[in-house]
Amino acid sequence: MTSDPYQDNRGNRDASVVNQKPPSTLKGYGTETKGHPDARTGEPYLIGDTMTGGYGTGADILHECTIAVDEGQIAVIVGPNGAGKSTAMKAVFGMLNVRQGAVRLNGEDITRLTPQARVAKGMAFVPQTSNIFTSLTVEENLEMGAFLRTDDIQGTMDQVYELFPILREKRRQAAGELSGGQRQQVAVGRALMTKPKVLMLDEPTAGVSPIVMDELFDRIIEVARTGISILMVEQNARQALEIADKGYVLVQGRNAFTDTGKALLEDPEVRRSFLGG
Ligand SMILES: Nc1ncnc2c1ncn2[C@@H]1O[C@H](COP(=O)(O)OP(=O)(O)OP(=O)(O)O)[C@@H](O)[C@H]1O
Ligand SMILES: [Mg+2]
Repeated sequence: MTSDPYQDNRGNRDASVVNQKPPSTLKGYGTETKGHPDARTGEPYLIGDTMTGGYGTGADILHECTIAVDEGQIAVIVGPNGAGKSTAMKAVFGMLNVRQGAVRLNGEDITRLTPQARVAKGMAFVPQTSNIFTSLTVEENLEMGAFLRTDDIQGTMDQVYELFPILREKRRQAAGELSGGQRQQVAVGRALMTKPKVLMLDEPTAGVSPIVMDELFDRIIEVARTGISILMVEQNARQALEIADKGYVLVQGRNAFTDTGKALLEDPEVRRSFLGG
């Protein structure tokens, strides 16, 4: 389909994975994928569509901002500090009232739903700050992530421990005693405990070393390959766009550039203004 805006392969989808869904230790995390974009509407799986809004009665922070992600794909939002990246994520997750525009999940208008109702629909969000319970153990953090579930969570917990083996080792330790990279693993693991269809991550690699960043990105790619959509904000723009199917550059609450990750990396203006040349 020529209308498929996501047809280009990114670095996260080498020839062996495209349309194949290879066996994975994470299989069964999400629901089965149905192909993308939606066959009827041609719309991405999750979209915050031309969102305008701000905090409370304050001035608008977002101005007709659109961010979206398709099933099993990785969409990355980059842009300068204060551009509204976190605000856009909060708007998509229902933590901010959008005055105009809409949020749709699998074709359903969820604009007025609470964050908790969105979790029940398959959305998980790891915020930029305060994303773990530091006084609880690693395992208790994971259990908290599953608070909405009534079924047996042990299988999912095993999958999280397979994805992040260090967490199994440290499962009885207070999460606050972990390193920055390990804490981010707890935060991502906690989000995965809801068995989400969409995983939203606000700067998952903040404050970690380049090696830990690479490892986290590898794990995120692994999660996406199980069919879970990833919508992610990243400061490490170049590295993040390398694994992105789709990239959004936000500036002052507006979409400045939107394209495949690869195209953005090659765009001279994007490189000069946002990627350090
Ligand atoms: N809770 C809040 N109440 C009022 N204004 C806020 C709030 N959070 C953020 N803002 C304002 O919204 C604007 C965008 O902030 P936001 O946190 O979305 O930027 P960002 O792109 O995520 O930046 P960073 O890269 O530093 O994380 C800023 O001007 C900020 O001051
Ligand atoms: Mg932010």
